[in-house]
Amino acid sequence: MKRVDDFRLRFGKQELVPIVIGGMGVDISTAELALEAARLGGIGHISDAMVQTVSDRRFDTKFVSAKLKQYKYNVASSDKSAVQFNLGVLEEATRNHVGKTMEAKRGDGMVFINCMEKLTMNAPRDTLRTRLSAALDAGIDGITLSAGLHLGSFALIEDHPRFRDAKLGIIVSSARALAMFLRKNARLNRLPDFVVVEGPLAGGHLGFGMDWAQYDLATLVAEVLAYLKSEHLEIPVIAAGGIFTGSDAAGFLERGAAAVQVATRFTVTRECGLPDKVKQEYFKAGEDDIEVNTISPTGYPMRMLKGSPGIGAGIRPNCEAYGYLLDASGKCAYIDAYNREVALHPDAKKLSVKDKTCLCTHMRNFDIWTCGQTAWRLKDTTRRLTDGSYGLLGAEHVFHDYQFSVDQKVALPP
Ligand SMILES: Cc1cc2nc3c(=O)[nH]c(=O)nc-3n(C[C@H](O)[C@H](O)[C@H](O)COP(=O)(O)O)c2cc1C
Repeated sequence: MKRVDDFRLRFGKQELVPIVIGGMGVDISTAELALEAARLGGIGHISDAMVQTVSDRRFDTKFVSAKLKQYKYNVASSDKSAVQFNLGVLEEATRNHVGKTMEAKRGDGMVFINCMEKLTMNAPRDTLRTRLSAALDAGIDGITLSAGLHLGSFALIEDHPRFRDAKLGIIVSSARALAMFLRKNARLNRLPDFVVVEGPLAGGHLGFGMDWAQYDLATLVAEVLAYLKSEHLEIPVIAAGGIFTGSDAAGFLERGAAAVQVATRFTVTRECGLPDKVKQEYFKAGEDDIEVNTISPTGYPMRMLKGSPGIGAGIRPNCEAYGYLLDASGKCAYIDAYNREVALHPDAKKLSVKDKTCLCTHMRNFDIWTCGQTAWRLKDTTRRLTDGSYGLLGAEHVFHDYQFSVDQKVALPP
């Protein structure tokens, strides 16, 4: 039986350990986590989700309070369309986050940034162009386009000097989505350097409807590989979603994937950005504690722990400070749901909004505990401490477990 270390991910002449730690916003896949993956010869992701907040936290900038101050007059209004991002500030925050991360990079691996199209920021094209260009300016090794079809995203940066040298890839959940992406971008004469095929067991948002359980990753990967072969295209395919052991990963590599993208097992590492108390919730979770629901205003189903404090919370939308999900006309499904509840219960001191959540605020506060379907197995990856809590893991330990383990074994920490 082969193990992950018997394979390499190849980008031209460069060879990498075929393990990618997936992007986890908002700063759950921290720079520290991504840098560990790079140091160990694989690929790590930072995320640009709510990057102004991340910059404030990490580098003591004051972008969020300045934005809130500018739009304070609008806080009580049910119409958030006035709230705009300043592109200069967005660029600076992205450069801070990416630049500082890349300065700290050691080792032979790479650091990519995860860019979600659904962060429409009340001006989808301009803000996405700024995010992508600033990340390239600041030296990111590669960009993974996610949460959206990204049909126009390559074109936004086609004039950037690094357009053909940085590694650019996309996450898809079907061969059809990939075919559409390739067709739309044919005129640019620039293929993606990699394609992540994400199946229905992943964490975060899913590229499926609520019928996600009818799909499986192995079939999707096989379909994408067959499609690429039929088109005579050689693009590395990276399998993602529900890959829990080194043996699971090696199985995908043996069947033609070039690498695996994993995330859930790293949520309980010391380098992960979740607060330690939340990491214990991930460890404690049973299979029945995990659900896929439709409370994300993006319209995509999302997987999370049922105990997430953000579920059912009826807070006032915080778009003046955040506003990352405002669409091109300044709307967000949570604002509509919240306004409906206010109209139904005009005298209520505290509201509950069940069908949608204020994702910006709750992700910022780590109150939506998104996870992959395998999160209930995390407790088997560590040891209990004398106080009954679960011992956090080192990212290196988990990375090496994926790289070297066989026979479905999971190595416990020493
Ligand atoms: C806590 C968490 C947050 C995530 N956030 C994002 C995200 O912001 N953008 C994204 O494209 N994928 C996100 N994902 C998906 C991962 O990058 C990855 O593709 C997937 O979870 C891999 O499956 P696994 O968790 O079963 O290993 C997230 C996953 C987790 C567990």
